[in-house]
Amino acid sequence: MSYTPEDVTVDRAVEIRRDLHMHPELGYEEHRTHDLIVEELGRLGIEHRGGLAGGTGVLGWIRGRTDDAAIALRADIDALPIEEETDVPWRSTHEGRMHACGHDGHTAILLGTAANLAARAADGGLDRSVLFVFQPAEEGLAGGKRMVEDGVLDGSIAPMAADRIYGLHGWPGVPEHVVGSRVGPLLAASDRFEIEVIGTGCHAAFPHHGADPVVAAAAITTALSTIVARNCDPLDAAVVSTTVIEAGTGFNVIPGSARLGGTARSLLPEVRDLLERRIAEVASGIAAAHGCEATTRYERGYPVTVNHAEPTNRFREIAVETLGDELVQDVDRPFMGGEDFAYYGQKIPACFYILGQQSPEAPEMPPLHASTYDFNDRTIPTGITLMSRLSQEG
Ligand code: NI
Repeated sequence: MSYTPEDVTVDRAVEIRRDLHMHPELGYEEHRTHDLIVEELGRLGIEHRGGLAGGTGVLGWIRGRTDDAAIALRADIDALPIEEETDVPWRSTHEGRMHACGHDGHTAILLGTAANLAARAADGGLDRSVLFVFQPAEEGLAGGKRMVEDGVLDGSIAPMAADRIYGLHGWPGVPEHVVGSRVGPLLAASDRFEIEVIGTGCHAAFPHHGADPVVAAAAITTALSTIVARNCDPLDAAVVSTTVIEAGTGFNVIPGSARLGGTARSLLPEVRDLLERRIAEVASGIAAAHGCEATTRYERGYPVTVNHAEPTNRFREIAVETLGDELVQDVDRPFMGGEDFAYYGQKIPACFYILGQQSPEAPEMPPLHASTYDFNDRTIPTGITLMSRLSQEG
């Protein structure tokens, strides 16, 4: 059995990718994207249910010959609030919206995989059942969590449950067609914090009449950056980045309050607990030293994306068989970015892998979330071929 997509499948997937790129939609607003996916699955004769995860998620499925549980394949479909600055003919037509993380490519690859597998199913049937998970709102809004809660994996929507899941992400710093993964943590837990510093406002010429929350906020920012250096085990990865400082309205007024915000990343539960505790302690201790008060709100976001050994080893074997040794890379260290693919892996064995995007003759690609990012269409057939095989042998 061949898993190589036909040219027509690839051409259609590229067409879809560019169409999606022109019409990016933010998390939970992906109505046009949802309709396009539903229409495409319908055209392919693939059973599906839309309207999931609050309205814009879609689950498709093809029944296989065996009674084994299905293998699920996942793509995220949402875009970012970024004004696109490329000059490609398919650049965004939605002001302030852009597919800067390549989810247009992920969606096109999964639809191409669906087309490829639908053709195989019509031509003698598939061994394994397959689920196609199109999830909204990966960018910070946990669409994956809602898809899981809606039952996309457990057989309450499709007639079959899944016993493992695969997902991919285009990776700009890696040569095109190269895929890679690792067993264990691949992406970090991604949390956010907000600190309100309450002082006493006064005339800026008479600072001794008040308690300056701006000076306190600056000291807190500096002190927060010591948590990783002084409180975490040097061999445990962690990040604390303060990314928001807001205060004040006038050059001669010391304001009554200041606000800080940022992100905390970790790979281990105990490090996550430590960051949560220390950020609040440091904020209130430093604030008190300045005669101010601080309240910290720590919000846990995506959990660590953990790759399970069995599907990840299987991914590696299949990738080597399909693409050859030279196109398969072991990712030696996790990335501190976050991914809501983590929620699927909390339910069933999971493997998330990267798909290299850098073409040798093109200038160096901008990073993910850059206003000039554009998914590399040449990697679409690579993604389709690999996902198709994983769906049957993974
Ligand atoms: Ni992404």
